[in-house]
Amino acid sequence: PQIIVVDQSGAESTLEAVEGRTLMENIRDGGFDDLLALCGGCCSCATCHVHFDPAYMDKLPEMSEDENDLLDSSDHRNEYSRLSCQIPVTSALEGCKVTIAQED
Ligand code: FES
Repeated sequence: PQIIVVDQSGAESTLEAVEGRTLMENIRDGGFDDLLALCGGCCSCATCHVHFDPAYMDKLPEMSEDENDLLDSSDHRNEYSRLSCQIPVTSALEGCKVTIAQED
């Protein structure tokens, strides 16, 4: 699916995302240096924080307690916050817009 990624400077680009990989892997391997993803996807660093598209929140898997706790440590959390390493890319995400959260 095509996913629109907004980087930390506010620039938008379209990413040709691969299904079956996580959103974090897709964004990181798409060349976005803003998404640090320091723990490599183990849900322990919160540097893969994104603000998801409000219109697509119901297409996402439920948040685990670990993800919720990690997001709580961010000053930039809002109701659309997710850790992108916890989101598998599916065709249901076609056309959504994901904003990389500012660093804490
Ligand atoms: Fe570390 Fe997602 S990459 S929590």
